Amino acid sequence: MEGELNLKIGSLTIVGMGIQLVGNLTLGAKAWIEQADKVLFALADPVTAKWLKQLNTTAEALPYNMNNQRRRDTYEEMTAKILTEVRKGLNVCAVFYGHPGVFADSAHAAIKQAREEGFQAQMLPGISAEDCLFADLGVDPGKNGCQSFEATDFLIRRRKFDSTSVLILWQIAMVGNLGFYERRGHIQGLKILAEVLDKDYGADHEVIVYEAAVYYPVCLPVVERISLSKLPEAKVTEVSTLYVPPKAMTPVDRKMMVNLGINNC
Ligand SMILES: C[S@@+](CC[C@H](N)C(=O)[O-])C[C@H]1O[C@@H](n2cnc3c(N)ncnc32)[C@H](O)[C@@H]1O
Repeated sequence: MEGELNLKIGSLTIVGMGIQLVGNLTLGAKAWIEQADKVLFALADPVTAKWLKQLNTTAEALPYNMNNQRRRDTYEEMTAKILTEVRKGLNVCAVFYGHPGVFADSAHAAIKQAREEGFQAQMLPGISAEDCLFADLGVDPGKNGCQSFEATDFLIRRRKFDSTSVLILWQIAMVGNLGFYERRGHIQGLKILAEVLDKDYGADHEVIVYEAAVYYPVCLPVVERISLSKLPEAKVTEVSTLYVPPKAMTPVDRKMMVNLGINNC
């Protein structure tokens, strides 16, 4: 194919490590890591990083500069490092934790940039925190639907949502913080988040602060059930995700059922 003939030497494959220590890695991702000329990684835990270095001795951590005022600048530095290695003509495999395309600006930016420069680039899916949540909390997005937002984005864009459907809010330890995680720095943001949610759900609505177990099966997931009013006092870390169950079932539209030829549901 004409497009493929014009591809430059060097390629980029971005894979996800999953959330749980090594056990979430797909066979496809493992194969790409093993055969890469250069492996770069952005991982949440040092144990996985060590394991990765045994799998491929070229493995090197991506720069993670926490002195930047904004996370966005750090992500740009990560993208730049990935592209530097690809431009050397190497087959690069970049490994991100979770799903590499979920809340991972630098992964998407690197793929886009590599393709624009004429390199072959692909992303393989991985197991995200949301996938773990579905399994641990017994939530099936097919039942009531599922809305997923980054917590700060949810507030500042006043995202429209449906309180009869599942609501998942990511990065709740970073509400209003465009920089890096600060212990207890999230309390004011959580107060505002609770106030906004209160309008649709009420203060007594039960929500869950969730953390998937990283060191499964040694550790269990954190499932903290609290009323919405207690959210600002909840124990929240940089890997906490908020699960807000539906408030009520939404009634069916009988007229629409007739239009669709459905007699009963
Ligand atoms: C930068 S995002 C990375 C998401 C990751 N790429 C994924 O696929 O899940 C970080 C956010 O993911 C969620 N997260 C990461 N690890 C988690 C865990 N162990 N349990 C629950 N949520 C987690 C939290 O909302 C956290 O603030």
